[in-house]
Parts: sequence; structure tokens; C-alpha cells
Amino acid sequence: MANPEATAEAAGEPDSPDAELRAQAAELFEDIPRAAEPPSGRPVTRAKVDLGAMLFFDPRMSVSGVFSCQSCHNIGIGGTDQLETSIGHGWQQGPRNSPTMLNAVFNAAQFWDGRAEDLAEQAKGPVQAGVEMNNTPENLIATLESMPGYVEAFKAAFPGEENPVTFDNFALAIEAFETTLVTPNSRFDQWLMGMDGAMTEQEKRGLAAYMDAGCSTCHAGVNFGGQEYYPFGLVEAPDPEVRPEGDVGRYQITQTEEDQYVFRAAPLRNVALTAPYFHSGQVWDLEEAVRIMANAQLGTELAEEQAQDITAFLGTLTGEQPQVIHPTLPVRTGSTPLPAP
Ligand code: HEM
Ligand code: HEM
Repeated sequence: MANPEATAEAAGEPDSPDAELRAQAAELFEDIPRAAEPPSGRPVTRAKVDLGAMLFFDPRMSVSGVFSCQSCHNIGIGGTDQLETSIGHGWQQGPRNSPTMLNAVFNAAQFWDGRAEDLAEQAKGPVQAGVEMNNTPENLIATLESMPGYVEAFKAAFPGEENPVTFDNFALAIEAFETTLVTPNSRFDQWLMGMDGAMTEQEKRGLAAYMDAGCSTCHAGVNFGGQEYYPFGLVEAPDPEVRPEGDVGRYQITQTEEDQYVFRAAPLRNVALTAPYFHSGQVWDLEEAVRIMANAQLGTELAEEQAQDITAFLGTLTGEQPQVIHPTLPVRTGSTPLPAP
């Protein structure tokens, strides 16, 4: 028999003590769907997802045979590498922190500065980037074509195509896999759907403070950010260690003066798992990141308790992490290009 109390809770009864806060939150945020569609609307099939998973985990997609997407976006640690800035080909240190690709499908554009329009366009970048995987599309295709297991998997994923092993299809398969990397059912989502008990009193105070202080002006929607661009330092410039002078954000792309230090409002789902913070990766403590944001973006000095409450609230955005089985990868053959330094 249905438990009447639980049913009332799930429906978010209007006489629940949380009703007002929930109504305010429901205007700004959405819960995560269990299955996502790529913004491109391209169909996601099982065969594409399976191929995408293979490519994501395969270090042979890098010229050295050392780096896979998983190296810098480890699905077991929130989709990040938990380094200040990523280490890639030849132990080079890249200029930016690796953002999580969990829930990246919900972002309006990819990268800290939004320079890639979608996940498929994005996936072609790291393979070729000198500080990441340092490969060429030609060498990548030669590697894939040398292994019958991959040729079969591409045929299954792109049926009817005469020559399916292409760089474009490599990117499309990775995009399809990434659409499965979503983290539904966080405690915040449960609460938003009506379960008063899913968040503690402190976390609820934090949610109220988050909305009242104005964090939700930039970090809202399904992914708590990832949609719009703002100057990092809208009101007050952060310390140059946190916002290094050499990285001018969107200005690099648009060459427009008002885009100096403009970055995408970072998506905050799973943020408790993804330290260190900011594009520079210089801040390891989430509460400190919250204080920096309040100063830099809102010109507000948060009271200690408020910063703690907001930080506690951000912890409720940790969702169910994707349970991914590491695929068995096709075995190399005599014609597979050798790893190169
Ligand atoms: C950014 C996926 C390989 C380091 C991203 C983003 C995605 C992604 C989706 C954007 C996330 C967002 O903006 O929210 C992939 C895939 C890879 C791959 C599919 C394999 C083909 C790597 C590797 C490294 C790396 C090997 C480290 C050596 C980074 C960094 C950024 C990034 C530093 C941020 C760059 C910027 O904003 O300028 N990646 N990645 N990625 N990835 Fe990867
Ligand atoms: C980044 C929280 C207000 C725009 C971040 C990060 C956190 C955060 C934790 C780092 C995420 C990560 O590294 O993964 C907050 C809180 C706020 C607030 C708690 C309220 C006190 C705002 C406002 C804006 C904004 C009002 C827009 C005017 C940004 C931008 C970034 C960011 C652009 C990326 C900065 C970078 O390039 O590293 N926010 N934020 N935030 N936030 Fe906020």
C-alpha cells in the first residue's frame, strides 16, 4: 500500500514547510533528465555509445599511446583529473584546469571560454592539441583502420556508410557516449521533486542564500551554469594567481575589448567532486571559491556562516555518478602505428 506521507512528499504538497523555497527554486533550476539528447539533435544509438566509450578509454588515440580522454576526464573522480592544470603529451602542463565532461551535454558551448560549439566539435580538439594527445587525424584513422574490431564497431555505429572510419564519425561517437555521462537524482533534485527530507536545514539555508545573494543570476538552469559568459571579476578583479593575466578568456576568440577575462559561468553540478577550482585550478577549497565568487562577481563579503551554508548547499548537487564498465579494446595488429615520443 502506498505510504500517504511519502506520496504527499513526492508531490511537493503546498502545505510543506519548504513550499515557498521550492517554488522559488523551481523558477530557476531544473532537475537532470536520466537520458540526454545532444543539442545537435543527432540520434544517439547503442552502437554509437559503445564505440564512443571505446574511443574515450583508448590511450592509443594519442600519438604516444599514453593519453586517453579518461586521463584528464576521469569518470571515477567527477570527470576531471584533479590537477591544477592538465598534464598531457610529453609531460607538458597545459594552461587550464580540466573541466568535468559529466553533464557537459547540457552546456550551451564547450570549454572555459565556450570556443567549441558542441561536443562533437570539441572532441576533435584534444586529439590534435600539442599539449594533450598530439596526434594527427591521419595517424588516428590509420590506427583505427589497422584493428578489425574498430572497423566493425564503426560499421555498426554508422550503418550504410561506405567508409565509416572517419575523424567526423570518431567525434560523433564520442559525443554520443558523452550524452550518457549525466548525473541524475542528486539530493537537490530529489528535494526539488518534493522530498523535503532530502536536504538538511543548513543546505536549505544555503540554497536560499545562493538565490538571495545572486549566484543564480549566472549559475542556474539544469546545469547550474554553462550557458552564458561573464567577466571573471565583474565587480572586483580576483587575485592574479586565481585569474592569471596571460589568459584573457573570450578576448582571445573575439578580440573585442569587453570580452577581456570573460569566461563561461562554470556549471556547478558535482562541484564538490571537481576541485581544484576556476580555469586556473588555483583554489582547492570550495568554500574559498564561493567567497572569491561573492567578492569578484557580486562585490559582497559573505558572512562566515553564509559561505558555509552555500558550500553545504553546493554539496547537494552531487548526482548519481555514471557506472561505466571499462570496455575491452580491439587488439593491435602488425599494421597499427607504433607509439611515438
Ligand atoms: C575540455 C572532452 C581529452 C584536458 C574538455 C571538454 C570536453 C572534453 C567535453 C569541455 C567541457 C566543458 O567545457 O565543460 C575530451 C575528450 C577527449 C579529451 C572527448 C578525448 C578525445 C583531453 C586530454 C586532456 C584534456 C587528453 C589533458 C591532457 C582538457 C582541458 C580542457 C578540456 C584542459 C579545458 C580547455 C579549455 O577550456 O581551454 N574536454 N577531452 N582533455 N579538456 Fe578534454
Ligand atoms: C565559476 C560559485 C556567482 C560567473 C564559479 C565556480 C564556483 C562558483 C564554485 C568555480 C567552478 C569550477 O571551477 O568548476 C558561485 C557562487 C556565486 C557565484 C557560490 C555566488 C556567491 C557568480 C556570478 C557570476 C558568476 C554572479 C556572473 C556575474 C562565474 C564565472 C565562472 C564562475 C564566469 C568561471 C570563472 C573562471 O574562469 O574560472 N562560480 N558563483 N558567478 N562563476 Fe560563479
